[in-house]
Amino acid sequence: FRSEDLKGKKAIVTAGPTYEAIDPVRFIGNHSSGKMGFAIAEELYLRGADVILITGPTSQQVAYKGIQVKHVVSADEMYDAAVHAFDGAAIAVMSAAVADYKPVQAAVEKIKKKQEAWSIDMVKNKDILLQLGQQKKAGQFLMGFALETHNEKENALAKLKTKNADAIVLNSLNDKDAGFGVDTNTVTIFHQSGNETKVSLKPKKEVASDIVSFIIKHLHV
Ligand code: PMT
Repeated sequence: FRSEDLKGKKAIVTAGPTYEAIDPVRFIGNHSSGKMGFAIAEELYLRGADVILITGPTSQQVAYKGIQVKHVVSADEMYDAAVHAFDGAAIAVMSAAVADYKPVQAAVEKIKKKQEAWSIDMVKNKDILLQLGQQKKAGQFLMGFALETHNEKENALAKLKTKNADAIVLNSLNDKDAGFGVDTNTVTIFHQSGNETKVSLKPKKEVASDIVSFIIKHLHV
């Protein structure tokens, strides 16, 4: 039941949120469920690829034992796993919602409630997509995502360019029944050639199938 479209090709996918520790009890995270990334990993597997799925904390389970799953918690851990796995990959899809910032230092002990107001010093996380874009070699297809609430197209195109991706999948939080948590999605895929592909609202599994078909069509062989 697996096709041979991507036979012998290595594909890596990031999925889910990252958790940035504040102390042993608290973290900074986001609403990503991992559903979109898991669906893409499963679809790549069904098209014959050797898949490594790097996922942040999620309750999702992969449908196929043949998919290699690496569990990570923080953006730093996801960065290390993705940079390592990218070597020799023909396809990389960065669908994780990676925290842009982390607390400068996670407290070793639980932070006690003190004054009325409290602030946390934050530092920027390393950008995984940017790094892979910089180390990308000929023949590697790199797809990023962009989750936007305003100036969606403009922001997606800026990410396509600055991160040296081959394509960017835009998710707008203004679309109903799409994005975080739900089982459906609608996206627009921007390719570096300038073409734009709209995927209408449908189950994430079907959106994943359209995304993987797009990748196969645009793969540099
Ligand atoms: O998990 P679900 O509930 O199914 O929801 C799916 C989704 C909405 C999370 C997914 O479809 C999606 O849009 N993922 C990208 C979310 C995001 O963080 O977008 P961004 O615009 O902040 O990041 C742009 C790109 O850079 C993404 O490919 C992201 O993985 C990558 N990135 C961001 C920060 C960072 N430090 N490293 C990165 O690689």
